[in-house]
Amino acid sequence: MESDEAKGPPDTDPRIEGEKHPVARMIGIGLFASVIGVAITLWIDWFPENAAGSAGTIDTLYDVLLICSVPVFVLVMTIAIYSVIRFRAKPGDMGDGPPIHGNTRLEIIWVTIPFIMVTALAIYGWITLDDLEAKQKNEMVVKVTGQQFTWTFEYPSEKLKSPELVLPVDRPIEFKIQTKDVIHSFWVPEFRLKSDAVPGLTTSIRLTPDKPGRYEVVCAELCGIGHSTMRQFVRVLPASEFDTWVQKRREAAAGGGGGGGGQAAAPDGEQLFTSEGCSGCHTLKAAGSTAKVGPDLGKLKNADANFIRTSIVDPSAEVEKGYNDGVMPQNFGEQLSKEELDALVKYLLEAQE
Ligand code: CUA
Repeated sequence: MESDEAKGPPDTDPRIEGEKHPVARMIGIGLFASVIGVAITLWIDWFPENAAGSAGTIDTLYDVLLICSVPVFVLVMTIAIYSVIRFRAKPGDMGDGPPIHGNTRLEIIWVTIPFIMVTALAIYGWITLDDLEAKQKNEMVVKVTGQQFTWTFEYPSEKLKSPELVLPVDRPIEFKIQTKDVIHSFWVPEFRLKSDAVPGLTTSIRLTPDKPGRYEVVCAELCGIGHSTMRQFVRVLPASEFDTWVQKRREAAAGGGGGGGGQAAAPDGEQLFTSEGCSGCHTLKAAGSTAKVGPDLGKLKNADANFIRTSIVDPSAEVEKGYNDGVMPQNFGEQLSKEELDALVKYLLEAQE
């Protein structure tokens, strides 16, 4: 017993005998691995094309997060793996480790450094978010409405609704996002920003598309069986082409344009098929839709007006074999006017193959 005490501090643990400066070695290897890790993560092209003013700021923020987090991960893993391999108990060694108190200096270091890093990143992230959410001059509001399983868009300043998202280039846009049913998430990867559509709330994001092109609008929140098909396109156009598009849509909405009958046009079944979200779930050759959440509407076995009408208003009345009840929204009866319902039924009858 006495001889044990005489041995002094436990840095003579036989398991790390012969190991000179183990901490320095681990940190050395860890730093080297970190440099390689950071180089690899920066070399990987994480994002698609950059098509909005905000995208550059967000990509930089992402890179900074990677530069800070990769070394922490790599360093911790290096020390863990190094210790497991190098300081493994010899076979048959059933003894306890030496009773040590800890290492106050190391503990202060590994608490302080992450604390400073996380605080600095939080401030940086907050400043970035504040910049992105700042109100812009000459902003155009676009209302985005999600429903199972489609997006529709409305331009209050132009008094226009559209199943397709079309935006003028270089004009600040404020998206006001809503949902008719469950939670969806409005996302254009090329614009980077993303926001949930939450029942009962209007959420908002601001951005300025700065590159003409065609990009995908994605739903980024699991919202039901057709979630993966809830994809549409956004077209970013030069300002003059955008104005032409607005003009055309207005004329179409006013009833064929030019004629000047003065009467409100009858609802267009084909347009309703897209704008009411039918195309988000159903295949219909005539409309060019290929979604497979619900049955193919161009191949109805029982294609008479009554059956079609009932199936829209009361989808549970007769469920096609191989499909589940309760997937199709039950509220189309309230959502569609009588004229719209008539137009849709007529369109579907004509669209039979
Ligand atoms: Cu809507 Cu996922």
